[in-house]
Amino acid sequence: MLMLGVRVPLKEGEKVRRRLLELGILNKEYKIKREGEFLIFPITKSIEGFEIVETNFEKAQKRPFSYREIVNVPEKLKPLLPSSFDIIGDIVIIELPEELIPYGKNIGEAILKVHKHIKAVFMKGSKISGAYRVRELIHLAGKKRTETIHKENGIRLKLDVSKVYFSPRLATERMRIFKKAKKGEIVFDMFAGIGPYAILLAKKVKLVFACDINPWAIKYLKKNKNLNKVNNVIPILGDVREVAGQIRADRVIMNLPKFAHEFLKEAILSVKSDGIIHYYGFSHEDNLFGEHEEKIKTIAEKLGRRVEFLERRVVRPYAPYQYNIAIDFKVL
Ligand SMILES: C[S@@+](CC[C@H](N)C(=O)[O-])C[C@H]1O[C@@H](n2cnc3c(N)ncnc32)[C@H](O)[C@@H]1O
Repeated sequence: MLMLGVRVPLKEGEKVRRRLLELGILNKEYKIKREGEFLIFPITKSIEGFEIVETNFEKAQKRPFSYREIVNVPEKLKPLLPSSFDIIGDIVIIELPEELIPYGKNIGEAILKVHKHIKAVFMKGSKISGAYRVRELIHLAGKKRTETIHKENGIRLKLDVSKVYFSPRLATERMRIFKKAKKGEIVFDMFAGIGPYAILLAKKVKLVFACDINPWAIKYLKKNKNLNKVNNVIPILGDVREVAGQIRADRVIMNLPKFAHEFLKEAILSVKSDGIIHYYGFSHEDNLFGEHEEKIKTIAEKLGRRVEFLERRVVRPYAPYQYNIAIDFKVL
């Protein structure tokens, strides 16, 4: 079928393409055609000021918007397909309901087709557990590689998704803390992992002590120091209970929501007078902050300190009716 097109010399191609897009007359259902030193753009209606030709165009292949449009699973299971997943570097980690597990390979392959920069797809094989806060991963498609480099808040973080904890969903929260931190501060990141808080903060503050009990986390934290050219992070491998009290920080980060309440004594002992603690926890929606704040007050009083609550926030949903919350407080 003959259609209308705009014919332009190659070197004017990009300028004209943008102009046709602005005018809303570029027909994106068809491919732009090359003829020697000229390009012919498919258009939906004629326009003055351009050379208009009549020609055939090839149909453009529509890039699927979501893997759900192309995945091979029984029709009745399609409503169960997750609409989102975590992307860490070039690796996808997806959570599948039981009914979809037999189709894991198809789902992984569909994700690879739609997201060209993704090289490997894994499925969550267990809940996050243990002191290291890691989960089992089951390979679905692509490379069987678990090491990657994730970019976040202008820094690069190398990690092995099967050996350390990392959640890309906390990027905004980390930036929030970065904005609050001040030049000249000493920061104590009690549960540092591979360093997404520590490395970011090191770009602004004087010194960051970064502790973690998982040797893999500290191994990657050291690599990430080099990768981001920061030398004011001091990695500490070990149980934070043995370190706390030896450090006096202006700001303490307690990013271990499941157990942070068990480490309040250590955090308070490590913070200077007028210093700030960023506390994280999990709560039921009926009592988001109350219980945590009571605990904070009680432990501070036992240690002869007073607290002033500065900010309370819901960071993200965690499970049905459960939220990951944050409380910032000053210790006097
Ligand atoms: C939820 S992860 C957070 C990691 C990091 N802050 C992040 O945002 O990716 C908690 C970390 O605390 C570490 N951890 C758990 N118990 C610990 C302890 N007693 N002492 C030091 N680190 C601990 C785990 O190994 C894990 O890397």
